[in-house]
Amino acid sequence: MSTVTYPSPSFSLARPARPARPFQPCLPLVADDSRPAAVMRSRFTSARCPVCGAPIYRGEAIARLSTPIGRARWAHVQCAVSRTAPAPSTPDAPAPAPAPSTPDAPAPALPDAPAPSTPDAPAPALPDPQLLARIDALEGQVGELTAAVAAAAAPRVIEVRQPDGTTHEVTGTVHEVFDRVLALAIARKNIFLPGPAGCGKSHLAQQVAEALGLRFGSISCSAGMSESQLLGRMVPMGAQGQFEFLTTQFLECYEDGGVFLFDEIDAADANVLLVVNSALANGHLSVPSRHAAPVAHRHADFVCIAAANTWGNGADRQYVGRNQLDESTLDRFRIGCVPMDYNRKLEKALCPMPELFDRMINYRRAIIANRLNRILSTRFMRDAFEMVSQWGWTQAQVDDQLFAGWREDEVAKVVSPDRPDGPNGNGRKH
Ligand SMILES: Nc1ncnc2c1ncn2[C@@H]1O[C@H](COP(=O)(O)OP(=O)(O)OP(=O)(O)O)[C@@H](O)[C@H]1O
Ligand SMILES: [Mg+2]
Repeated sequence: MSTVTYPSPSFSLARPARPARPFQPCLPLVADDSRPAAVMRSRFTSARCPVCGAPIYRGEAIARLSTPIGRARWAHVQCAVSRTAPAPSTPDAPAPAPAPSTPDAPAPALPDAPAPSTPDAPAPALPDPQLLARIDALEGQVGELTAAVAAAAAPRVIEVRQPDGTTHEVTGTVHEVFDRVLALAIARKNIFLPGPAGCGKSHLAQQVAEALGLRFGSISCSAGMSESQLLGRMVPMGAQGQFEFLTTQFLECYEDGGVFLFDEIDAADANVLLVVNSALANGHLSVPSRHAAPVAHRHADFVCIAAANTWGNGADRQYVGRNQLDESTLDRFRIGCVPMDYNRKLEKALCPMPELFDRMINYRRAIIANRLNRILSTRFMRDAFEMVSQWGWTQAQVDDQLFAGWREDEVAKVVSPDRPDGPNGNGRKH
């Protein structure tokens, strides 16, 4: 368990271990030979055999079994064979007693009994040698994968102790800047997270709220965003159509405490953001539509986070729909500016398949080296891993999705193995 102590000694981060989940048997199962690759080596260590309940270690031969509801499960090959091969009959074994029948009731239809085995009867069918050869071929690839999966599957819990003794946990993997952002949030500074699309900015803001045990609110900024989306408005929602004040997530977090995220703040109308200037710097905010309480006061537990794809200097080649932010707005976030980028460790945890991960990283390297106006985000990597590991996609299918809409010369620069600036040995394999 590692602990990080913050400037305030009452805050600390700890990573306690998680208890293992108990085994849940899933029976009955039958052999599934509906797909050609019904036998292979396990690529994971975490799974348990649904027949015997023992862990399936990486590299062990496994066979697919299907359940009556159609969901396939993987079991040890021996377990699968024992489940499908007819049980050897012994001369002493008593014959199963027939069900008592009544004269009126028709005898229940019984399935055909298996032919009694004789010494000459063939042994239970073993897996196809071709499949076993394929297993051997895959064996070399599973070591790295297992280590990565084990690292990713390891429970990662961050525990934040509050001054009042309460603790809050953040589960899952965090971006490398998480600790820095959390420290700023504990200091109640306004935080600005500039970074490329899909690197985990919005996710991190939610994890900060989780770590502090505060509510989370957000707004996706756009040029059409109005002041009332931040400051509330009067709407006829009372009895007999009376106008009542409709508050906003921003106001709730500001007055009652919470982490509020201005997502894609660089897409907002710079002028609209000026209405929250005093809220962010001076601790109070004018709420003109709320006649009963026209001034809102900043709660001690209000944390403001802004995420952007640019530094607030206006559109660039990649993020063309962005506005230049007012310098006074940017100044309020200066001390809490934490630039983010794609985090290799986080991505490895979200895409724990070494071959796929390396392929993606090499593509990204080539994108950068060739100054292409393209990105390969953490989001894409996580989705690619999900499609390959859970939905049987090939890596070529992932490539097709990545390169959809790219020009041919762009694709060639990224996938060509012989270019000095291309990814080594990662040509597309179809
Ligand atoms: N620490 C993490 N743990 C698990 N998943 C994560 C983590 N960080 C990011 N992700 C996943 O990656 C995807 C992209 O993250 P997120 O939406 O936070 O990126 P972003 O930087 O806000 O992107 P954009 O700039 O496009 O808004 C999300 O779907 C999220 O689920
Ligand atoms: Mg986002």
